[in-house]
Amino acid sequence: MQNKKDLWFWSILFSFILRNSTSLDNITPVQSITDGETLISSGGTFELGFYSPGNSKGRYLGIWYHNISPQVVVWVANREKPLNNTSGVLKLTGEGLVVLIDGSTNGSLVWSSNMSSKAGDKRNPIAQLLESGNLVVKDGHNGDHFLWQSFDYPCDTFVPGMKLGWDLGTSLERTLSSSKSTDDPGRGHYTFRIDLRGDPQIVLMNGNATAIRVGPWNGLMFSGATLYLRYSQFSSQFVFNEKEVFVRFRPENTSKYIRGVVYPWGGIQVLHWSIQTRGWETLISIPEAECDKYALCGANSICSTTPTPVCSCLEGFAPKYPGKWKESDWSDGCVRITPLSCSRDGFQKVTGIVLPDTSASWYNRTMNLLECKEFCLKNCSCTAYSNLDIRDGGSGCLIWFHDLIDIRQGTQDFYIRIDDKKKNYSGKRKLEGIIFGSIVFITIIILGLKLFLRRKKLEDPDIFWLKQHVRKMEKEDADLPTFDLSTIIYATDQFSSSNEMGRGGYGPVYKGVLANGTEIAVKRLCKNSDQGLQEFKTEVQLIAKLQHRNLVKLLGCCIQQEEKLLIYELMPNRSLDYFIFDDARRKLLDWTKRFHIISGTARGLVYLHQDSRLRVIHRDLKTSNILLDEDMNAKISDFGLARTFASDQTEDKTGRVVGTHGYISPEYAVRGSFSMKSDVFAFGVIVLEVVSGRKTREFCDPDQSLNLLGFAWKLWNEERTLELVDESLRDSVNEDEALRCIQIGLLCVQERPEHRPNMSSVVRMLDDDKPLPRPRLPAFYSHQQDSTLIEGEDGEEVHSANEVTISLLGAR
Ligand SMILES: *[C@@H]1O[C@H](CO)[C@@H](O)[C@H](O)[C@H]1NC(C)=O
Ligand SMILES: *[C@@H]1O[C@H](CO)[C@@H](O)[C@H](O)[C@H]1NC(C)=O
Ligand SMILES: *[C@@H]1O[C@H](CO)[C@@H](O)[C@H](O)[C@H]1NC(C)=O
Ligand SMILES: *[C@@H]1O[C@H](CO)[C@@H](O)[C@H](O)[C@H]1NC(C)=O
Ligand SMILES: *[C@@H]1O[C@H](CO)[C@@H](O)[C@H](O)[C@H]1NC(C)=O
Ligand SMILES: *[C@@H]1O[C@H](CO)[C@@H](O)[C@H](O)[C@H]1NC(C)=O
Ligand SMILES: *[C@@H]1O[C@H](CO)[C@@H](O)[C@H](O)[C@H]1NC(C)=O
Ligand SMILES: *[C@@H]1O[C@H](CO)[C@@H](O)[C@H](O)[C@H]1NC(C)=O
Ligand SMILES: *[C@@H]1O[C@H](CO)[C@@H](O)[C@H](O)[C@H]1NC(C)=O
Repeated sequence: MQNKKDLWFWSILFSFILRNSTSLDNITPVQSITDGETLISSGGTFELGFYSPGNSKGRYLGIWYHNISPQVVVWVANREKPLNNTSGVLKLTGEGLVVLIDGSTNGSLVWSSNMSSKAGDKRNPIAQLLESGNLVVKDGHNGDHFLWQSFDYPCDTFVPGMKLGWDLGTSLERTLSSSKSTDDPGRGHYTFRIDLRGDPQIVLMNGNATAIRVGPWNGLMFSGATLYLRYSQFSSQFVFNEKEVFVRFRPENTSKYIRGVVYPWGGIQVLHWSIQTRGWETLISIPEAECDKYALCGANSICSTTPTPVCSCLEGFAPKYPGKWKESDWSDGCVRITPLSCSRDGFQKVTGIVLPDTSASWYNRTMNLLECKEFCLKNCSCTAYSNLDIRDGGSGCLIWFHDLIDIRQGTQDFYIRIDDKKKNYSGKRKLEGIIFGSIVFITIIILGLKLFLRRKKLEDPDIFWLKQHVRKMEKEDADLPTFDLSTIIYATDQFSSSNEMGRGGYGPVYKGVLANGTEIAVKRLCKNSDQGLQEFKTEVQLIAKLQHRNLVKLLGCCIQQEEKLLIYELMPNRSLDYFIFDDARRKLLDWTKRFHIISGTARGLVYLHQDSRLRVIHRDLKTSNILLDEDMNAKISDFGLARTFASDQTEDKTGRVVGTHGYISPEYAVRGSFSMKSDVFAFGVIVLEVVSGRKTREFCDPDQSLNLLGFAWKLWNEERTLELVDESLRDSVNEDEALRCIQIGLLCVQERPEHRPNMSSVVRMLDDDKPLPRPRLPAFYSHQQDSTLIEGEDGEEVHSANEVTISLLGAR
């Protein structure tokens, strides 16, 4: 007995030592994986362990790419039930893999893999992370037999070797399901799966409803996939026999790092890791066009993506409700002009389409096209037929009954049943032309009429100006695209409150996804905001002409009906203040990232002040107006308060001081005089905030009198400068760079504008290591002075219409 215990003790100890010296790819029942430990597949591709997604604090057991950063998780075990702390442990028992809380006692069960009851010999199980990313439990004696495998329970990611589809013997269905959000890997609304009804087809479901249909397999690919496949970096294989129906894919001409993902918002992408760019490149992105939306055109009509989504009825059909149809409401589709007689019907070939929904279809693999036609003729409810397999001239028979749903432009052909009298091959093209022509004609008439009526209404002069301006710009250089209101309504799910990211002085900001997968942020102007309208005008006028990697990109605008919308690229990491002023998130911005942000902001400003076609003073720089993209690049946003200068102008005055308290320079606050140096002042404040992680407005120094600027200056004078640096940077900070940044910050916030450097000198100072000038006492160094100055003199107004706004632009 004693011996046995010893043996057990030594084996544990040994495995412990082993795990700490080399990385393991497997565990046996005497071993376990605790939080912090990982398994690495034998070739080093995948790693298994505990992690926290996004901003979540929950711990999940997952598998990710070992060598790729930032972390990309491909599989999650306990996706519905996170651990609340790091006391999780993965063990292998006779019943399978389990995740427990705290391994030492009989901790409560968080997750378990089920081993099928027929699993065979479970006496010597071993769990192994394979090079494919598959976590398997196998019988130690018969290594080829998997008692359980993670590939049978996919989450939102599809990797080579995985099967998507059905094991018909056990009725196991493997589907991809979206996560709830980037922070929560729990099962979301969308499921990507094989629908077994009729001829099997691949669909994306939103709950119980079909959202997108990739279509049935035609021998080469899925009928709808032709729309998306422009790359040959992977090949798909579809297997359909008595035992299984599944699709899988493998990389071709690319690294093994290739994956398909179903996103929480209902999009699907296939991405591969590019060795050249060291980043993920998108190969396929669905939905790509509005026609991808399931049954957009209703029954018996074809959706064509170009130029704009246009639905047209199949030959022999007419809109069910012509009135709605003309208004671009196609959902009711088309109906037969004359009913089928059944006895003397013929067929009309329709070319260049994605086959209609096959969920109510019938098929036979051995029949040929002629037999197929005859079979269809015999059944009065058969409405169309085609080949099942298009290889080698075509084979098999696929038959539809009743309505034909979700036909899109594509590459396949099929035959629809029509009344024989109507059959007229030569007339077909003409008829199509006439139908299309009339739709275009009617649309033009309606649009013209609307425009005419709209013009007749007395318009708000500002809105009139805007429309003129946008029109003018479109003519000039097409800098600023206009979006159709319906596109934005679709993208934001009708401005649904779940897509609202924030709200500012002028109105709410929504996130959305365009049909091609581009994520956008939409600023929606309140109907009655005069200030907002002014800012909207400025933004439209200015930012469309500005393009720089450190400025946020305006994708377009939309002024239609009552709506005035600005559409930007979505910044997934929100804004700078969201990170640096939050106790947890500030840790995510290490020194390198912060320095990169400071330097990016400076470059953006040089562009604004000097290099752009216009000379632009931003006038409202603050941390919440510095947005961050997925790589934490700084992007200056919100040009609502900006002004342009003539090339010889250096200063301007205003009676109405706008901006944000804390970032306003003294000459502007007191005299209403602004210049590029007022932006420099704000930049200095931002630098000090970024380095210290403190808000200038909320800063309290130990003796309560100095503000952040005064405190920084005091520390600098006492040669204690580094004490200003954010605690959470302690491990990552480059002290020389931090000292330079603080000194540059102090130079920028000097009282007199002429003492402050211009932005191009700031960029030079950041880049080289020449000695810097000594800063003078900053403006507003104490709280009292700060407030007397701001409220002082001739009682000018200090306000910012967008005090709380853009900090939220970019939220997810
Ligand atoms: C974590 O905490 C939440 C809420 O306190 C609880 O519902 C959940 O069951 C906990 N998870 C585990 C694994 O204990
Ligand atoms: C971790 O969380 C679990 C459940 O929430 C709890 O039972 C356990 O005591 C916690 N462990 C530690 C070390 O906090
Ligand atoms: C722990 O689990 C073992 C086996 O499952 C069982 O025999 C034992 O009674 C459990 N102990 C406690 C304290 O629940
Ligand atoms: C796992 O086993 C439990 C209990 O036997 C059962 O309720 C559950 O459906 C099983 N899950 C899977 C995925 O087989
Ligand atoms: C989905 O279908 C199932 C079974 O038909 C039903 O119970 C469930 O309520 C449906 N869910 C929704 C959201 O319609
Ligand atoms: C791989 O790339 C080569 C050259 O680009 C091309 O000729 C070949 O067809 C590709 N292979 C596949 C399977 O796409
Ligand atoms: C398919 O068609 C062939 C030839 O007409 C016939 O022999 C076979 O029974 C059909 N199969 C099914 C499932 O109807
Ligand atoms: C026509 O096909 C449908 C669907 O397969 C079937 O239900 C119906 O009985 C058939 N009708 C005739 C007359 O064969
Ligand atoms: C086919 O349609 C065209 C145009 O509608 C017409 O001129 C022609 O006579 C028709 N042919 C037949 C055989 O009906």
